[in-house]
Amino acid sequence: MNGPRALRLGVNIDHVATIRNARGTAYPDPVRAALIAQEAGADGITAHLREDRRHITDDDIARLTETLRIPLNLEMAATEEMLAIALRHRPHAVCIVPERREELTTEGGLDAAGMHNHLAPMVDRLSEAGCRVSLFIEATPRQIEAALRLRAPVVELHTGRYCDTEGEERAAELARIADIAALAAKNGLEPHAGHGITYDNVGPIAAIPQIAELNIGHFLIGEALFCGLHESIAEMRRHMDAARG
Ligand code: PXP
Repeated sequence: MNGPRALRLGVNIDHVATIRNARGTAYPDPVRAALIAQEAGADGITAHLREDRRHITDDDIARLTETLRIPLNLEMAATEEMLAIALRHRPHAVCIVPERREELTTEGGLDAAGMHNHLAPMVDRLSEAGCRVSLFIEATPRQIEAALRLRAPVVELHTGRYCDTEGEERAAELARIADIAALAAKNGLEPHAGHGITYDNVGPIAAIPQIAELNIGHFLIGEALFCGLHESIAEMRRHMDAARG
């Protein structure tokens, strides 16, 4: 993911697998989607292996690891099962997320502060295995301090509330994300961001200069129904580049 662009795009392909699994068929194949994303200019592929395997499966992770030329970012909950899988495949990056079985999507950030003792050995083992560890957190100083104590090199800031609100509330949320991205970068962490991003809301987040990567899934896969996956990704790239100037 070390291209000339200052802001990388990670394409999350989970929901290609959601459609496949709805019918128990072999198609549409998320690995095929990942290869199209690679061609379309994605800097990385993100896939969330959930405990209930509701979309991405173990076999998808194995095939992505074998097939991709661009880095794989494995999203996972902080469990022993997922740790073992990550250590077996050693993806470029591992993003640790909170996970609740009943949620529709990752609803909030990881409490990296409250879970320090649970997370510390996992972050160490993943780092020793060569995986770049990222923590998916709410944009607060407390979580940045926790990430620093855990020696995770990357934090992904949850943009869900920014995307779901409007007006003053959205502006306040954007300011909070920008402040925390600056705080993270000042302390040597690489800030990423993601969740709920669309063409309409990507601009202000992409314009935050410290943010190095956006991870975007649901909107891109949905938009692909109308214009094709290559074009939905290329158009997002154009929005990101325009916002960065
Ligand atoms: N980043 C993380 C850590 C996520 O859990 C998700 C959703 O799986 C995303 C980014 C992408 O969010 P969306 O699918 O809403 O673009």
